[in-house]
Amino acid sequence: MKGHKDILKDKHGRAHNYLRISLTERCNLRCTYCMPENGVQLTPKGHLMTYEEIYDIARLFVKHGVTKIRLTGGEPLIRKDIPVILEKLASLPVELTMTSNGITIDRFIPDLKNNGINKLNISLDSLDAEKFKEITRRDQFGKVYDNLLLLIKEGFCVKLNVVLIKGFNDNEIIDFIQLTRKLPLTVRFIEFMPFDGNKWDITKMVSYNEVMHRIYETYDKNTVLRIQDAPNDTSKNYHITGYQGTFAIISSVTNPFCDTCNRLRLTANGQLKNCLFSSTESDLLTSYRHGKPIEPIIQKAVQSKFSMRGGMDTLEKLRDPNLHSNNRSMISIGG
Ligand code: 5AD
Ligand code: SF4
Repeated sequence: MKGHKDILKDKHGRAHNYLRISLTERCNLRCTYCMPENGVQLTPKGHLMTYEEIYDIARLFVKHGVTKIRLTGGEPLIRKDIPVILEKLASLPVELTMTSNGITIDRFIPDLKNNGINKLNISLDSLDAEKFKEITRRDQFGKVYDNLLLLIKEGFCVKLNVVLIKGFNDNEIIDFIQLTRKLPLTVRFIEFMPFDGNKWDITKMVSYNEVMHRIYETYDKNTVLRIQDAPNDTSKNYHITGYQGTFAIISSVTNPFCDTCNRLRLTANGQLKNCLFSSTESDLLTSYRHGKPIEPIIQKAVQSKFSMRGGMDTLEKLRDPNLHSNNRSMISIGG
């Protein structure tokens, strides 16, 4: 007899208590590393999960052991029904969080607060307005930066996601760290990863070792303190003595953290992805709509999870476009 929580345990012994739900494939930015130049084929609205479906499916995951839900996109705040989605999900016994590009987040402060969301990840890849425009194809740096300051002022615990791209923003590593001097936030440098249509090339990636090397060129080693990572943390965390905030590095390419992975992903059209890099998906929504039980589908998907990066367990495999291009673009996975 299988216990309730067993369907979320995989054959490598990993229990999955963290569900990331993408609410939409649309975004108000056009980050070059995230979406192909010509955009992605949008799923017709009728094939996207409604808020009731999101809630019902999420509730089922919670019943089987999920304790943390992150809302992603595209840009999750673009969903017209975001206030009700937040309200419904906040009624579940989970920690609710969100990843946003911050463009419109000032309009949602009460919705976030009223629904107990106090941790937010904000994507911001450059502190230079021109560069921001270049990478996002939109002239919105000022808006995001003001909103970042607003969120901190309002007491949110903010992590800034910075995807580093060689020759583009790697000269800003120290500027980002300087931001943590006066601001109590965490800057997270993310190694650039390959997804469908994002023109990935390993030479564009800035590795964990390189980031640390740059930091040690500016800061005395004694002032850069390694801090304890949270369980299942995807990042290695550091603190500069005397600074208010911290910084971290997410090294999915050079130093993956798959052995402690506790994450599952649900796309906006109700497909379960057992890994960020998986090239296959399991359709939960169709069965749900036909009134069929979806637990067996979830269990099968969890059971078939590879031990590492959707089976791309070496750098050679990750570099092979035949392998990583079978996946979706990041914009329709949600990070
Ligand atoms: N490599 C690394 N991180 C990425 N993100 C989006 N695309 C990539 C990529 N190719 C990150 C962004 C965003 C989060 C949802 O995923 O920083 O914050
Ligand atoms: Fe939008 Fe985020 Fe993708 Fe940029 S990375 S296009 S902000 S979903």
